[in-house]
Amino acid sequence: MKILVTGGLGFIGSHTVVELLNSNYDVIIADNLYNSKEEVLEKLEKIAGKKIKLYKYDLKDKSKVDKIFETEKDIEAVIHFAGYKAVGESVKKPLMYYSNNLISTTNLLEVMQKYNVRKFIFSSSATVYGDNGEIKYVETMGRGETTSPYGTTKAMIEKILEDLYFSDNSWNITLLRYFNPVGAHESGLIGEEPNGIPNNLMPYVMKVASGKLETLSIFGNDYPTIDGTGVRDYIHVVDLAKGHVKALQNAPDGLNTYNLGSGKGVSVLELITTFEKVNNIKLNYKIVDRRPGDLPEYFADATKALKELNWKTEKTIEDICRDSWNYEKNLEK
Ligand code: WQD
Repeated sequence: MKILVTGGLGFIGSHTVVELLNSNYDVIIADNLYNSKEEVLEKLEKIAGKKIKLYKYDLKDKSKVDKIFETEKDIEAVIHFAGYKAVGESVKKPLMYYSNNLISTTNLLEVMQKYNVRKFIFSSSATVYGDNGEIKYVETMGRGETTSPYGTTKAMIEKILEDLYFSDNSWNITLLRYFNPVGAHESGLIGEEPNGIPNNLMPYVMKVASGKLETLSIFGNDYPTIDGTGVRDYIHVVDLAKGHVKALQNAPDGLNTYNLGSGKGVSVLELITTFEKVNNIKLNYKIVDRRPGDLPEYFADATKALKELNWKTEKTIEDICRDSWNYEKNLEK
């Protein structure tokens, strides 16, 4: 079965390509290298021991999207990761986010329709739940008020897909809402490599641990949580990747939505303490003011994915800390 993975050289996309190849799918990648590096391709081929065809195309160019499907006659499903994803940048450049993330997706869906490819898995995000005052998120909650243009593009694309399915229920559409993807492949060959100064916690911890950045700022320790710091549902990227394979294999026909998370919350301080213990490293950190827009605590109710996809996370916070650090050390070689 041939799968097109858009954004397949990115953090989550690349790990998903490895798991698809491990499950004997044929994989082709479309990636415009905006937030990824072409050298990741050879690393994927090394890990999987298989060749992978790359289309260095921008999905905003519909003629290029058509060329992929015109060339690859037997694509049976699409997993769509490609899109801009920096929350802070989206606040500064909303038009760039709306045009890129939405036009890429509608181009892809229109071309899929033309070539009668109807199986679509979308990389969505827990951010679509918005600030609903809940701590444990369940799929039936529906979408809330998103807090960034990035999050709004995810919510809008979910709505586009719902309307598309309502207009033509020959589509099979799966929305996967990720919580906090972290970690790296055990080989240390692929992992998260954000451009510039990281916004997210784990990549920032890596740069402090490796001495590239001096001190980690903990954004507030006066939240109503176990130790006052923010609590999130961190999911190992390999578990997340396996969730996509399970969705491909087990998602029922129609339009279905699933949380992909561990089902438990971990605080910033708990993560730091675990990282220091697992890797025997002392991290420099200081407590600073809260980051605007941050919520105190939320994590996944992951029961639906277990029941319907037969998927749950297997890796631990210790695995996350070990694998992340292993990748960061490899980067320095
Ligand atoms: C985690 C915790 C911070 C950095 C974001 C996006 C979300 C999703 C996942 C795409 C929070 C604290 C962080 C730092 C800190 N991405 N923190 N110091 O904000 O939960 O979610 O990534 O779908 O859409 O919003 O992730 O890693 O930024 O923060 O103290 O330098 O770490 O306050 O409690 P977040 P994060």
